[in-house]
Amino acid sequence: MDQLTRYGISISQELQDKFDAWIQQKGYQSRSEAIRDFIREKLIDQEHANKDTVVIGSISIVYDHHIPELSAKLTTIQHDFQDCIISSMHVHIDHHNCMEVVIVKGNHGELETLADKLSVIKGVKTGKLTLVY
Ligand code: NI
Repeated sequence: MDQLTRYGISISQELQDKFDAWIQQKGYQSRSEAIRDFIREKLIDQEHANKDTVVIGSISIVYDHHIPELSAKLTTIQHDFQDCIISSMHVHIDHHNCMEVVIVKGNHGELETLADKLSVIKGVKTGKLTLVY
């Protein structure tokens, strides 16, 4: 671990109280750890804003498997993007609906394109790309 540096910050009592309540609710052991997480998250957000960055995440979709050709279309698209796909999981949610979670790694812009292609097909009810790194 890197050596830790200490510094103080000025903050209003009101904001401090809200922050402490939030920290307690989340279960953080210290303010420092909460603030470190905020900083990491902001820096990652900034990196993700660059479409050329290589990122890791998941694409979650929910769809009605009774719609003709839908499963085949989703499979074809995933084969077209096989270089970005690490793994996928399929869960039968109920009689009609399936959920698929695809773990992806690659160029941010390309992953967005893949998520869009999967999401816009008729019968796909929800599609979401979540980046973790
Ligand atoms: Ni299914």
